Amino acid sequence: MKLRSIELVLPHAQQAASFLTDIWGAALAETQKNTYYLRGSGSFPYLVALEQGDKSYVRSVTFVCSEDELAPIKENITAKGLAACPVTSTDLGGGEGILVELSEGQILRFLVGTEEVEPIEGKDLPVKLTHVVFNAEDAEVTGNLVEEVLNFKVSDRTKGMVFVRCNESHHSTAFARAGFCSLNHIAFEMEDLDAVMRGIGRLRDHSMVPAWGPGRHGPGDNVYAYFIAPFGAVVEFSTAVNKVPDDYQVGAPEDWTWPENRIDQWGMSDKDFDGLREAEEQFTFYRDWEAQPLS
Ligand SMILES: [Fe+2]
Repeated sequence: MKLRSIELVLPHAQQAASFLTDIWGAALAETQKNTYYLRGSGSFPYLVALEQGDKSYVRSVTFVCSEDELAPIKENITAKGLAACPVTSTDLGGGEGILVELSEGQILRFLVGTEEVEPIEGKDLPVKLTHVVFNAEDAEVTGNLVEEVLNFKVSDRTKGMVFVRCNESHHSTAFARAGFCSLNHIAFEMEDLDAVMRGIGRLRDHSMVPAWGPGRHGPGDNVYAYFIAPFGAVVEFSTAVNKVPDDYQVGAPEDWTWPENRIDQWGMSDKDFDGLREAEEQFTFYRDWEAQPLS
């Protein structure tokens, strides 16, 4: 199971695509009708789809998996009575699978039989998405739900987050204890620490400063720099998230405390809490499909 992509709908898709390709560092893979597909250097055909629309919302966050992984998930979704429907992807890479809406409204898509592409050179390209984080009304309930239904595993719980993995990477998603449901942020995996730092420099060339970072997180141990993109969403340069074994000991909030005035390992930067919170409210989830039986 791998996190592959996020599909966004927004009013100024072209400007968002320009920001992500000209400044952030992604590459334009293809434009189809009203959708811009942006890729990284890795083998996924795209990481972010930007579809022109009247309002901003998340259409889906897409995971790619095998038939063997999808079959029990379909059974669990049906047993749990979650809204879901079979889907044939018309996005780059194709594939078939399901869309599912979690109990609070987050929409995930699971595809099998997707195509990959040849990696491309580019030291300033993201390699892939490393995680997409959701805001949750109740992160505990949603964390437990994705363990039960999607066979994901909670890696760590902190005061602010429930970190969840779907493979050996410490987290591919997380649920923030926000009290509301929306997109929290999209994190791009950069090749190394230098690529993160050069990314911060590129944005500085355009008068953009991090809303938080650079820093190094506790859970996952990854380096980060968060920015509020001109199109409204929070985006992150990240690198080197920990890999964890199957029997990883799930951490509790009391295992992840900081000295006073610290919220990361380095303590280099302030965090723009208000700006980030406002940006996190920009992209909610919108279900434009009817629930259907999965079998
Ligand atoms: Fe992150």
